[in-house]
Amino acid sequence: MSGTASAPGEVGTDDCLSNYSYIFSPDILKNKVAFITGGGSGIGFRIAEILMRHGCQTVIASRSLERVQASAAKLSAATGQHCLPASVDVRQPETIIAAVEETLQEFGKVDVLVNSAAGNFLCPASGLSFNAFKTVLEIDTIGTFNTSKILYQKWLKDHGGVIVNITATLSYRGQILQVHAGSAKAAIDAMTKHLAVEWGPDNIRVNSLAPGPISGTEGFRKLGGLARSAADYYKLIPLQRVGTKTEIAHGVLYLVSPAASYVTGTSLVIDGGHWLSGPNNMSAMQALWQTSAKL
Ligand code: HXC
Ligand code: NAP
Repeated sequence: MSGTASAPGEVGTDDCLSNYSYIFSPDILKNKVAFITGGGSGIGFRIAEILMRHGCQTVIASRSLERVQASAAKLSAATGQHCLPASVDVRQPETIIAAVEETLQEFGKVDVLVNSAAGNFLCPASGLSFNAFKTVLEIDTIGTFNTSKILYQKWLKDHGGVIVNITATLSYRGQILQVHAGSAKAAIDAMTKHLAVEWGPDNIRVNSLAPGPISGTEGFRKLGGLARSAADYYKLIPLQRVGTKTEIAHGVLYLVSPAASYVTGTSLVIDGGHWLSGPNNMSAMQALWQTSAKL
C-alpha cells in the first residue's frame, strides 16, 4: 500500500509532463471547454495540461500575454488540443468580458471555470501597506468573483457548468505572515458556498480546492519552500513530502468530471495532511520572511 502515497512523475518548470499514465478515462472531458485564470504558469498550467490530456479544450488567461501565448503553444503541442491564450487582469472586468466573448466566438461554449489566478508574498500584518492587503484581496477574492459572475452571465446560467476555485489552508488555523492571502482565500471558500447554493438550480456546481505546499511553483518559491526543503520539514507533513502540480490537477479533474456530479459547495484539501500537523513556528517563519521579502 505504500505506493498509494507516492507522487507521480513531475516537471518543475512550466513545461508539460514527458510521461503521463492515465488514471481516469482519457476521454472523460471530450468536447469540453475550460476557462482557466492563471493557466499560464505553475499549478494553473498543469491543470490546463491534465484537462487537455482528457479531451478538453482550454483558454488560459492572465496579465502577461507573452506568458500565456508561450504556454498555450506548449500545451497544444503536448496534448493535441486547442488552447487559446488571453490577456486578462481579473481585477478589470472589461478584460474578462473581452476574453469570454473571444472564447465563445472561438469554442461556442464554456463548461468549466477554474479560478487559479492569485498573488502572494510573506509579510507581517504590521508591515503590510493598506494597498498591499487590498491588492491581494483584489486579485484573489474580487478576481474570482469577477470572473465567476461574468461567465455566469454570459454562458453558465443558461447552460450549466462547473467552477473550481483554487484556495489554500492558510486560514484554517491562522498562518503568520499570511493575513492577506489567508483572508482572501477564506473569503473565496465562503463565496464557493454562497454561489453553490445560489447557482445550484442553474445546474452549476461550485467547489474549492485547497492545495498544500506544491513543488515547482511560484507559491512554493515565494513562501520559502526552497529554504524549507530540508528533510526535517517534510517530516512535519503526514505524507512526508510536498505535493506535485499533477496531484492538484488530478483533484480538479475529479471535481469537474461526472465522478463529482453530486459534489457542490465543498472544499477538497490536497495537502498530504499538512495543515493538520504543520507548526506555526514564529522564529522560523520570520527567518523565511527575511530571505524572501524581496521576492
Ligand atoms: C510587502 C509587498 C510585497 C512584499 C508587493 N507589496 N510585494 N508588500 N511584501 N513582498 C506591496 C507593494 O509595495 C504595493 O503596496 C502593493 O503590494 C501592490 O504591489 P504591486 O507590485 O504594485 O502590485 P501588482 O503589480 O499588482 O503585483 C501583485 C503582487 C505580485 C501580488 C504584489 O507579487 C504578483 O503579481 N504576484 C502574482 C504571482 C504570485 O504571487 N504567485 C504566487 C501565488 S502563490 P504600496 O503600498 O507600496 O503601493 C499563493 C500561495 C497561497 O497564492 C498559499 C500557499 C500555501
Ligand atoms: P503562479 O504560477 O504565480 O500562479 C498565479 C497565476 O496568476 C500566474 O499565472 C499569474 O500570471 C496569474 N495572475 C496573477 N495576478 C493576476 C491578475 N491580476 N489577473 C490575472 N491573472 C493573474 O503560482 P502558483 O503557486 O502556481 O499558484 C497557483 C494557485 O495555487 C494560486 O491560486 C495559489 O494561491 C494556489 N496555491 C498555491 C500553493 C503552492 O504551494 N504553490 C499552495 C496553495 C495554494 P500573470 O503574472 O501573467 O498575471
